[in-house]
Amino acid sequence: MPTTLGGVPPEPQELDPASWLIAGGRPHGPGQPLSHPITPASTFEHGGDRIYSRADATETWDALETLLGGLEHAQSLVFASGMAAVAAVFDQLEAGARVLLPDDCYHGVAQTAKDWAAKGRIRFDRLPADDTAAWQERMTGADLIWLESPTNPLLSIADLMTLCRAERKSGSILVVDNTFLTPLRQQPLDLGADITMQSTTKFIGGHSDLLGGSLATRDQHLVDRLRTSRTLLGASPGALEVFLTLRGARTLALRVDTAESNAKELAAHLGNHPDVSTVRYPGLGSMISFDALDADRAAAACRSVRVVRHATSLGGVESTMERRAGTPGQEHLPAGLIRLSVGCEAIIDLWADLDQALRS
Ligand SMILES: Cc1ncc(COP(=O)(O)O)c(C=O)c1O
Repeated sequence: MPTTLGGVPPEPQELDPASWLIAGGRPHGPGQPLSHPITPASTFEHGGDRIYSRADATETWDALETLLGGLEHAQSLVFASGMAAVAAVFDQLEAGARVLLPDDCYHGVAQTAKDWAAKGRIRFDRLPADDTAAWQERMTGADLIWLESPTNPLLSIADLMTLCRAERKSGSILVVDNTFLTPLRQQPLDLGADITMQSTTKFIGGHSDLLGGSLATRDQHLVDRLRTSRTLLGASPGALEVFLTLRGARTLALRVDTAESNAKELAAHLGNHPDVSTVRYPGLGSMISFDALDADRAAAACRSVRVVRHATSLGGVESTMERRAGTPGQEHLPAGLIRLSVGCEAIIDLWADLDQALRS
């Protein structure tokens, strides 16, 4: 009888990431569903591998970790939100630890550092993401090096290739928040990062209908510590959110390609627009920040969009934009700065909408 591989699930290293996202982490074999069942269980009958799902996961949750881990050839741990994943990393710090953060980064991470410092738990410094020499100089004394590239919302780029390999203290942890580019565009673990972080709320989920976070690492000791933190912080994800993330992630490659191609075109058009002074676009991904002439005009443009949605957050199939300095805690940003998350609508409609909104 001829042998067949049918029914044997593919391994991530056999496939292009776009195929892995569709084929990975799914049940295989005769009679198996092509989608993953949702298991909304908190507890399991004694005698098996699982006891209580806050600690022991469910099959749906395992499937998402298999899928996301496969993208980075690492172990993935999924969380109830991006900030829950951030909290699990900060939970690794000893009292008095030194933390380095970019001077522009997701404000929830900066706020966590400020809050912990105010309670005397850590000390932290913030450095320009693109000042590689300043990071190299300070990294040798830091316990946690938190990088985000491109940064939110100014889209500065850190030299990850250099920083992930730079000399640092033994036992220090270097994390890259990879939410803006996803593992499809940037693989910091390959460059030497210890942990990558994603707010799966954004591109991985992709439909603005869930909150989730994930960490990936190739260090088993860190996996064990982070898993313990997740259990003790109660940062475990819900069954429905995990299912929705699995479903959304199947089209990640399509969405990232379409949104990025739209973003390249929009960045070029915005650069020539009379009502736009500066365009920040790093040349890849689908986040653009641009300066409308002043705060009032930026606010008016945000109120006038019809296809793009005036909303916070990013990474959905729908384009969203907001004036970031209007967000509490973000008043230090340029007053007319608009952060635009480009989605998958037709480019012709996106540009017509942005143009009319900017002229409003
Ligand atoms: C770059 C980045 N990291 C982390 C987070 C936090 O993720 P969540 O909102 O899923 O907790 C966000 C949220 O906007 C983000 O943009």
